[in-house]
Amino acid sequence: METPVLSVAGVTKHFGGLTAVKNFSFDVQPGEAIGLMGPNGAGKTTLVNIIYGIYKPDSGKIRFRGSNIGGLSPHRICHLGIARTYQIPQPFATLTALQNIIVAAIYGRGLSRPDAEKTAHEILEQLDLSPKKNTVTLDMDEVALKRLELARVLATRPSLLLIDEVAAGLTEEELPRILEILRNIRQAGVTILLIEHVMKVMTEAVDRIIVMDRGEKIAEGNPGDVMKDRKVIEAYLGEPE
Ligand SMILES: Nc1ncnc2c1ncn2[C@@H]1O[C@H](COP(=O)(O)OP(=O)(O)O)[C@@H](O)[C@H]1O
Ligand SMILES: [Mg+2]
Repeated sequence: METPVLSVAGVTKHFGGLTAVKNFSFDVQPGEAIGLMGPNGAGKTTLVNIIYGIYKPDSGKIRFRGSNIGGLSPHRICHLGIARTYQIPQPFATLTALQNIIVAAIYGRGLSRPDAEKTAHEILEQLDLSPKKNTVTLDMDEVALKRLELARVLATRPSLLLIDEVAAGLTEEELPRILEILRNIRQAGVTILLIEHVMKVMTEAVDRIIVMDRGEKIAEGNPGDVMKDRKVIEAYLGEPE
């Protein structure tokens, strides 16, 4: 078997008395698209933050292509080829869409200014953002901001992409296009870990789903089986508030 792109082994993270992630393990194989789902507060974003080096795990190991990356800074992790989007987009508010992508290509990928500009125009095109290239992000709507968030991470040319809720807030009519964009990203050889609540995106975009509840893995398998799993249904039905 090939070395997994990402291997999460026995990872635990506490916030004071709360165990946000509990002895969590999974592997992602090269070229695979994995979905991570679970009710609000399950620990999904915390897990992404741990993989990306924002938080240090209290125990457990994170390996990228076989090397331990636990404890590295987000900057180092980005340069290894891992990129992540934020659930709440975090662009530079006073820069235009184009400028934001150029900054990501220069600082996240180390491209020269001309190469960064060329890359930025390609990515704007790929994500249907060309008409908004000169719009400052302060003036962009939520859908465009989510696209821009994806554009900024693609500008770093990642081999592993961690996507935190890219389809949240989209209408039914907007879903096919985001699915197509995700397919194109995969076809370019990028391995994907997708966090998503929108079921249609989950079932169509990933090979395998892992379900998390209260920090623990409660199910793992192909989308069809996972959606029928009793523990999964109960976790969602039992979601309070
Ligand atoms: N920085 C933090 N400090 C304290 N508690 C946190 C912090 N980040 C997340 N949590 C808590 O950890 C749990 C998991 O949160 P999160 O990973 O954001 O869940 P999800 O993304 O699945 O909705 C929640 O109870 C949340 O309140
Ligand atoms: Mg979250």
